[in-house]
Amino acid sequence: MTAPWSAWVLTLFPEMFPGPLAHTLAGKALADGLFALHTVAIRDFAHDRHRTVDDTPFGGGPGMVMRADVLAEALEATAAAARATLGAETCPIVYLTPRGRPLDQERVRALARAPGVILICGRYEGIDQRVIEAHPIEEVSLGDFVLSGGEPAALALIDAVVRLLPGVVGQADSLSDESFETGLLEYPHYTRPRVWQGRSVPEVLLSGHHENIVAWRRTESERITAERRTDLWQRYQQKTRIER
Ligand code: ADE
Repeated sequence: MTAPWSAWVLTLFPEMFPGPLAHTLAGKALADGLFALHTVAIRDFAHDRHRTVDDTPFGGGPGMVMRADVLAEALEATAAAARATLGAETCPIVYLTPRGRPLDQERVRALARAPGVILICGRYEGIDQRVIEAHPIEEVSLGDFVLSGGEPAALALIDAVVRLLPGVVGQADSLSDESFETGLLEYPHYTRPRVWQGRSVPEVLLSGHHENIVAWRRTESERITAERRTDLWQRYQQKTRIER
């Protein structure tokens, strides 16, 4: 049997996994064996009795830096385990850091097509730069804000990937319309009651006229994208101009 899509998470806090994922769609997928999640406790690779994983930064300054030797040993052991499990030459290695390239749906789709991923969660001020140089590590950020560690970012990344794996989201349709799949943000949704606190559902959605509904949703998606995300809107306009 071939292994399902698998994530290895290198962390100082293995007890944080699967954490909230256990209560989502991903939790069911995990229980159903649609993907696998392995935690690697970086501290298990420490060399001393105190299980030290970090030290003060050369050059001075605040905080602590994760040691290159300990982290690299954890990473190399994990990469070997990933190769043995997946039988694949390459499994992307992602270090979650606010310094990384912002994660987007395109990268999430590519990660879902890979056999799995190795995720490195940093704490303290970060990890020794030499580990990043010595390994094919991709630095990825969740956005322009700072978390106290990479773990919540790793959980978010796994959630985003897992919902794209075959069999995880029931209706294939519910993926194709959503934000970013079309290059636009999603249109607004409504359900019963038809009138709530004096607010009615837009008439067109009650009309049963499929083409008009599709057109209305497209217009709303475009309006919301243009209003909120000039970056996405420009890219979308460029793309539609080329396709025409
Ligand atoms: N670690 C700390 N902050 C982060 C962020 N914004 N994205 C990814 N990993 C992080």
